[in-house]
Amino acid sequence: MSLDCLMSKLESMRGDGADFDTILETAMEGLHVLDPRFHWTGIYELFPDNVLHLGAFVGAPTDHVFIGVGTGVCGTAVAEKRNMNIPDVREISNYLACSTSTRSELVVLIRTGDTIHAQIDIDSHQVAAFDDAAVSMVQQLADWLAVLYNERAGGKRVA
Ligand code: SME
Repeated sequence: MSLDCLMSKLESMRGDGADFDTILETAMEGLHVLDPRFHWTGIYELFPDNVLHLGAFVGAPTDHVFIGVGTGVCGTAVAEKRNMNIPDVREISNYLACSTSTRSELVVLIRTGDTIHAQIDIDSHQVAAFDDAAVSMVQQLADWLAVLYNERAGGKRVA
């Protein structure tokens, strides 16, 4: 499946009134298989108490179901309001290990302006797996999901 194909599928689910969580599950399953370098693909949703909660994911179960803002790669992305592309997680001190096989990690925020709804987190067993093409693909999906999150919040939610 291509990204375009996945986005069309998601768009039609949305048009058919599919459940929000079902759309997220389909999005993560579809994204995971778009690139063989993606070994763990999931969503963390930001709650108003500034804790990220693990949502839909594909890959091995992780201990990191809740992550505070400012903790690990995921929490740092929220604290600094920016995406994180870590070529080699062995070189950073604040990494929370999901799997000892992980080498690189990408976090792309799902945001509407300064309001962060959630994030897509991807781990790869390959060093520097997230090239420009991979990042752009994940960003497009994150931007689409931001519209969905914003709609669900009635355009009013401030995380
Ligand atoms: N590595 C992340 C934790 C999430 S697991 O990778 C699924 C971090 O450092 O925040």
